[in-house]
Amino acid sequence: MLFKQQALLRQKLFVLGSLAIGSVLYLVARVGTLDRLQPICPIEGRLIPPEPEKIPLRTLQFKRGLLHELRKGNATKEQIHLHNLVQQLPRAIIIGVRKGGTRALLEMLNLHPAVVKASQEIHFFDNDQNYARGIDWYRGKMPFSFPHQITIEKSPAYFITEEVPERIFKMNSSIKLLIIVREPTTRAVSDYTQVLEGKERKNKTYHKFEKLAIDTNTCEVNTKYKAVRTSIYTKHLERWLKYFPVEQFHIVDGDRLIMDPLQELQLVERFLNLPSRISQYNLYFNATRGFYCLRFNIIFNKCLAGSKGRIHPEVDPSVVTKLQKFFHPFNQKFYQITGRTFNWP
Ligand code: A3P
Repeated sequence: MLFKQQALLRQKLFVLGSLAIGSVLYLVARVGTLDRLQPICPIEGRLIPPEPEKIPLRTLQFKRGLLHELRKGNATKEQIHLHNLVQQLPRAIIIGVRKGGTRALLEMLNLHPAVVKASQEIHFFDNDQNYARGIDWYRGKMPFSFPHQITIEKSPAYFITEEVPERIFKMNSSIKLLIIVREPTTRAVSDYTQVLEGKERKNKTYHKFEKLAIDTNTCEVNTKYKAVRTSIYTKHLERWLKYFPVEQFHIVDGDRLIMDPLQELQLVERFLNLPSRISQYNLYFNATRGFYCLRFNIIFNKCLAGSKGRIHPEVDPSVVTKLQKFFHPFNQKFYQITGRTFNWP
């Protein structure tokens, strides 16, 4: 009898114990579910917008993948909105000089995480038809960027086109202006080589450089030849100085950008008030190309197109000397105005 009572008590205890454990487990599970379903501050969570994304410079390099897609037009409106991306007017323009190394300069500056380049030459200020389309058209040609980044465009024809300084001044009188120059005779030959290649592509014949650069009647330098005129840097710069103080220009040594790009790029970083971010890692010499190429990261690197770095035709040394003598006084004036001296003959 006693044995039977003990067994009954044990059974009751077991049932009660199981019920107690079950209840505890249920409560734990329920609390866990509630915790997951309801945020601690649901109202605040919904009403306060998230902090605007402040992206440290180093992470922007990583974000370039996204920007690259955006520039190609592969982004949705939602993505642009989500990342607060905007199309900004340029805060700096590479205004020239044609064949000075304008493309190399733009591409190399684009290595900087706070710089975004306009890939195409926009020709807004030098082309009357484009200019008539208005500033919103120009802005619409700019790449998407984060608000704190600076957009840079390059159109080398700006430097030599009469109307451009006034037009740029009207857009932004404190814009920073970059001019990349090369030894004037070399630049003129480079200019000629580009035109010659264009003619050859169309199976057309073209004059020799000597014939264009020297007036056969006077045996003097032919100042009507555009490639010569473009190399008279001081003449063009003087027009710009009617609108902008000299401090707003930075002169880049295009010959040094070929041989030792980092030093030139660091000077430009300083001029643009950017922290120094472009390093030797970003630039490597490619012996096959004979030029420095660009390294964005471990995966992505690139050299400039084959149209940059053409082989120049040989020019009669007496013509070279004549041109160098012709440019000499203009060069002296250019050094004086800009405060930057070059080892040009
Ligand atoms: P050449 O083709 O005469 O060698 P731009 O971009 O203004 O048209 O200038 C072209 C010049 O950029 C080229 O002239 C080339 O010498 C120069 N250049 C400078 N750095 C370069 C680089 N890293 N790769 C290719 N060309 C470069």
